[in-house]
Parts: sequence; C-alpha cells; structure tokens
Amino acid sequence: MSCCFAHPQTIHRLDDLVQPPMNSENKEKFDFSTVGAPVSEPHPQSEPLPLKEIPALEGSVAWEAPSNIALIKYWGKYGQQMPANPSISFSLKACVSQTKVHFKPQSGGGVRFSLSGQQNLGFQTRIENFLNSVELRYPWLKEFALDIESTNSFPHSSGIASSASGFAALALCVEHIDQNVRLTAEQGPAAHHPEPTAYRADARFLNRASHLARLGSGSACRSVYGGWVQWGMHPATPESRNEYAIAHQSAIHPVFTDYRDTILLIHKAVKQTGSTAGHKLMEGNPYADARYRQANERIPRLLSILASGDLTEFGLLVESEALTLHALMMASDPSFMLMMPNTLAAIREIQAFRKQTGLPVHYTLDAGANLHLLYPAQHETEVMSLINNSLMHYCENQAYICDSVGTGPRPINPFV
Ligand code: PMV
Repeated sequence: MSCCFAHPQTIHRLDDLVQPPMNSENKEKFDFSTVGAPVSEPHPQSEPLPLKEIPALEGSVAWEAPSNIALIKYWGKYGQQMPANPSISFSLKACVSQTKVHFKPQSGGGVRFSLSGQQNLGFQTRIENFLNSVELRYPWLKEFALDIESTNSFPHSSGIASSASGFAALALCVEHIDQNVRLTAEQGPAAHHPEPTAYRADARFLNRASHLARLGSGSACRSVYGGWVQWGMHPATPESRNEYAIAHQSAIHPVFTDYRDTILLIHKAVKQTGSTAGHKLMEGNPYADARYRQANERIPRLLSILASGDLTEFGLLVESEALTLHALMMASDPSFMLMMPNTLAAIREIQAFRKQTGLPVHYTLDAGANLHLLYPAQHETEVMSLINNSLMHYCENQAYICDSVGTGPRPINPFV
C-alpha cells in the first residue's frame, strides 16, 4: 500500500521527537554534555529580565515550526553546539511540529511534556535539562510552571527526526513568552502585545529563537525561518553567525522557491548511531580538516547556484554533499553505515531515470537511510510516475512524503 502525506491534515504521533525517548537501553548512550551545561555565551540583543521584575502571568502561546533538509551538511561540532562548518538548508512545508506552552506562576518552575496527548517522561527530562541550561537567560523559567503539548505532522516512526522542528517550535514559544513577560514588566497588566504574526517578520525575535533552538539541537536553529537558511559563519555572508542561523531571502532563483522534496521512507527503524555520536566521531576523523575546508568552499558555490538556477551544478553539488556525509560516517573510528541496500538501489534508479529523460532529479540524504528526491515543481508529474513505478518498492510499506520548500514557522491561534 502506498502512502503519500502531501497535505497532512492529521497530526500523527512520532516517537523520535527531539531524540529517541530515554529508556534503560539508550539512556547511557545519550550525551547530556551539550544540553545540560549552563550557557554563558553572549545572546543576540537582549539582557535577561531581573528576577524582581518578573510579573505573575498566566497564558498560552503556540507555534508551528518546520523540519529542514540540509544541502550543505553540518557534521561535526565543538563547544556548546557550535558547528564545525557552515551549512545551508531549506525548510520543509509539510513536515512540521506544533507546540503549545501554557505557563502559570509557580515558584521553582516545573515542566510537563506531552507528545500527541500522552505525557512522555523521556522527552520531558531532556526538555527540563535544556530549559535548566538557559535559565540564566530566561530567569522566569524558575517562576512559571510550563505545560508543553506537542504534535508532529509526519507519521509515527517514519525515520524522520523531529528534533529540528520540535526544538524550533519550543524555542519560538519560549521567546514569545519572554516577550510577553518583558512587555508586562515594562507596561503593566494592560501592556500592548503585538499580534503573534508580527514576530514572524521580527528578525531579532527570530535570531534569538534560532539561538535558543540551536542549544536544544544544532540543526533546529535553521528551522525558525522559511525558505533557504544558512547556519555558521562564512565571509560570503557577512551577517552569518555560528550562534544562530539566518535566512537567505534575496537572490534566490524562482525555481528554488518551491522546489520539491519527496522523502522516500526507505528504513524507519531507530538508527544504529545517532547524530550526537556521529558529530563526536568527527573529532578523530582523519578527513575532518579536508571536509571542513570543502564545506566552506561550497557555501559560495551553492549561493551562486541558488541565485542562477543552474540545476546541473545544483545536482552535482548536493549529491556529492550527501555521499560525502555518509563517506565520513564510514571513515569514522568506529565506522558506521546508515545507508541500506534499498538506498543504493533507489539511487541507481534515479541515476538511470536522469540519464534516460534528462530531467533534473537529484537526491540528498540526512543522517539516515531515507532519500530526499529533489526536483523543480514543473516536473512533478514525471517524477511522481518514477516514484510510483520504480521507487516506491524500495520504501518500507511503500511510504513516502511529498514535501517542498516551505515558508517557515507560524504562530498558531487557537492551537489545534
Ligand atoms: O542537528 P543534528 O545534531 O541532528 O545534526 C544534523 C546533521 C545532519 O542532518 C546530517 C546535517 C544537517 O546539517 O542537518
């Protein structure tokens, strides 16, 4: 049975929000070093509100944030979730997380987390650790109890990690509450609060949310924007930073503004090596320096392709990035491999189709076996035939997700 989630109306449960839930099996493997430590680096443009000025407030905020797929991959990090090289991604449209945070005064704070209506203690612990690590910056976290409800649009156990969309949605909620608390502290209970949608266009708000999301999960910092996003400092983009991502709004050729990404769900099982361990293994990887140099050289190359719309160059670059990422995994010590036989078989079919038709259909991979099929919207009919006739058989339960470049997060009101 085939399964396409082109316009998912239903929000399904997904166990891999943020990281697999902690249990006795994977608890030891989980690395708290980057999320539990207090954060001391400078914050973009805001000082924490003094504790004595925090008003007693009760309310709810809710945001939807997308997942994203990197074309130039981030693989390797240092310090507190700082990227070893810059990366460029686009935000997806259909694969999103929706998160609502209800806050009310409670001395000492407190967090309750539920996923798709069910309390999830594994995620709750991770989120508590994450929020504890940023309480110097958001001192009200110790004055409010937070009830966090989250759902994902992509189906349960699809092999698509929801850490990016999940942490982005949560970070947007935390920043939103921070704004409410600050405005009430400044103006009193009758404070004028901007329409939540105004925050979508507020660069400082988004930079701060991106900064916060990064501390939860690196690639999540790219998910607070729509379209094409860069994370990591590079001279080609003077405004780029390692601390937070930025959106590339101008100089994007129209073909790339609604580019299609059909995700072939080749293998859905929990990965043998997660990205936390994978990043860490770059520390001893003999090819690490060459890789970081290569990624830096590729940033201006991709930016120029995005401006020109050169699809042949695009394909060469993104496929090389995907294979390089997996080659780095295989060259790690210990080595690991996340591609599956069906990943390779599907790649061969894509290559043959391209040769036969001349159509610009390319693939990328994230840290898993699933293939992202990338192509211009105008070739959707031909590519859907390829998927239905040849590629679907390589997918577990013949499942795939039809997605495309999305416009980014949005506040949700009311939360559904
Ligand atoms: O954000 P993390 O720690 O899940 O790492 C993401 C790594 C890749 O998906 C492989 C690449 C990327 O840039 O998103």
